[in-house]
Amino acid sequence: MKKRVAFLASGGGSNLQALLDAMQAPDFPAEPVLVFSDKSGARALERARLAGVSAEHLDPKAYSTREGFDMALVALLEPFQPDLICLAGYMRILTPAFFNAFMGRIINIHPALLPAFGGPGMYGHHVHEAVLKAGARESGATVHWVVPEVDAGPIILQARVPVLPGDTPETLAARVLEQEHKLYPEAVKGLCLS
Ligand code: GRF
Repeated sequence: MKKRVAFLASGGGSNLQALLDAMQAPDFPAEPVLVFSDKSGARALERARLAGVSAEHLDPKAYSTREGFDMALVALLEPFQPDLICLAGYMRILTPAFFNAFMGRIINIHPALLPAFGGPGMYGHHVHEAVLKAGARESGATVHWVVPEVDAGPIILQARVPVLPGDTPETLAARVLEQEHKLYPEAVKGLCLS
């Protein structure tokens, strides 16, 4: 039986696309059951629709608390019975309401070699700027379990890339992203086979 995977994404969803593509293979041990976004215009939702996967959105502005939003999200997700929830560029910090329902089933991809360059505020271009500022010689990507402390869950898989002379946050981000697109499907495959 294939494992059932739900995705939470806020933006472009290139990692989502890499996973949707990988899941097309008949022998891939997981299938996409839902893509959720907190942004109605997220390209990730369009990617889901094009792939024939359920695409759902809730507007955070309609909820007075973050917990309330997450409770609604849990109620939306539960009927899909996800074995695994992949965060793919999801820009909201999850609350206890979400962890109470799904702790141990949530994974994320981070564009650096955790535990370095992780934690609150370390997202998007901030990560690559910090790596360059620190003079690090390499960076990479990390797939990890999601726990309440941001970017602190057990590491599942990592890929490394060199930091090259003349790198900008953009060139480094692109080199890391290319690896992310291989790493995330590999990690999901490994988890779903075990
Ligand atoms: C990726 O760099 C990922 O590591 C981070 O958010 C970015 C999402 O990019 N968590 P995309 O939406 O998958 O293109």
